[in-house]
Amino acid sequence: MSDTIKAIRGMNDILPLDTPHWQHLERVVAGTLGAYGYDEVRLPLLERTELFSRSIGEVTDIVEKEMYTFSDRSGDSLTLRPEGTAGCVRAAIQNALVRGQQRLWYQGPMFRYERPQKGRYRQFHQIGAEVFGLTGPDVDAELILMTARMWRELGLGGLTLELNSLGSPEARRCYREELVTYMEAHEEQLDEDSRRRLIANPLRILDSKNPAMAELIAAAPRLLDHLDDESREHFDGLCARLDAAGVAYRLNPLLVRGLDYYSRTVFEWTSTELGAQGTVCAGGRYDGLVEQLGGRPVPAVGFAMGLERLVVLMRQAGTEPTHHIPHAYLVMVGEGVGVQGVALAEQWRDAVPGLRLTVHCGGGSFKSQLKKADASGARVALVMGEDELARREVAFKDLRGGAPQESVAVAAVAKRLRRLVTEGMTHPEVTEVSA
Ligand code: HAM
Repeated sequence: MSDTIKAIRGMNDILPLDTPHWQHLERVVAGTLGAYGYDEVRLPLLERTELFSRSIGEVTDIVEKEMYTFSDRSGDSLTLRPEGTAGCVRAAIQNALVRGQQRLWYQGPMFRYERPQKGRYRQFHQIGAEVFGLTGPDVDAELILMTARMWRELGLGGLTLELNSLGSPEARRCYREELVTYMEAHEEQLDEDSRRRLIANPLRILDSKNPAMAELIAAAPRLLDHLDDESREHFDGLCARLDAAGVAYRLNPLLVRGLDYYSRTVFEWTSTELGAQGTVCAGGRYDGLVEQLGGRPVPAVGFAMGLERLVVLMRQAGTEPTHHIPHAYLVMVGEGVGVQGVALAEQWRDAVPGLRLTVHCGGGSFKSQLKKADASGARVALVMGEDELARREVAFKDLRGGAPQESVAVAAVAKRLRRLVTEGMTHPEVTEVSA
């Protein structure tokens, strides 16, 4: 075993026990995005390195130390996307989607060379949404209300919405000067990381998790107190909409985000159930980025959620998806039964929309096949032996409740299966279901 090849550190296989949760999450999120009028785009995993350095920012953790960058065979510097916004903006400019208004969403793996730990991986998955061409707080509110709806539909309570405004670039420049003056006056209290940030990216000092810095940061001047009038009005407009819709939030003046492209609204949804990596969804406005990447001056706002972290929360909440569990498992024993059985199974699949039917393959005794039927989680086993075949019947064996076995004429099986499908499924491990 010593020379077997293992997956790369921080890059995980998502295995059959987990995929039902992923599929449920993806279905709910994609369904909600569609219902709000968002259209899906599918974007390349690789982009030119310059796209990320010009958008995320040269002096950010992502660009400085977390990107998977390499030269391709023609010597071009390419990078595995560390996030989706930059590629989405690039695609929108290139394909003239930034004319008028666009509501877009995407999903897929992202890559960051971070130190792997619980909830932090080197390949992780996001679903993100980006809106182009709308300046007002109405669309910021829409994005947040839409995510709140997703959490409700996923059965995730206990998430906190943190909000801040980074103001206009000019307001931020003034604030930055004031912050640097304050921090320089307390330079002896700064840790090494913050000293470095003081020169390169002072706002990021506010994001420090070092407890020794907490007091200094708490007493620092606040960006929210330095907003320009328009940004203040925008922020008030957003808060008013969230208040009216009954979505609670916490103002967090220290929320600055780790990517440079934001202006005005920034937000994060956080959980206390995930340890150090508690942010499950984050985003904000980035009105300057489209122009910065060569497009027209088009306002934009968006978010991305981390699917690994949401799946952990879904599992902790105890929601067990059932969409992958077969309704029925076909057990076949005897001469010629397999040949007939497989043809009947195809007919039932034609006749019963949504039917999840597993057909036993590989032979074996009646007992061993029934064991497999039970392990599959199916509600019923459809049992066919030589006797049943001769009588043109199938036995329905209830695997979850105590209903007695029942013989059903082949001609009536589709009708019975249709009932099984429309009755819906309850997770077999959670609740006992009677037939
Ligand atoms: P971000 O905060 O870098 O923002 O990532 C968004 C979410 O992706 C995080 O809140 C977290 O749930 C998840 N995530 C990030 N890094 C990791 C990791 N190493 N392992 C597991 N999950 C992770 C963005 O990416 C922006 N593009 C969001 C955005 C869209 N802003 C505007 N539009």
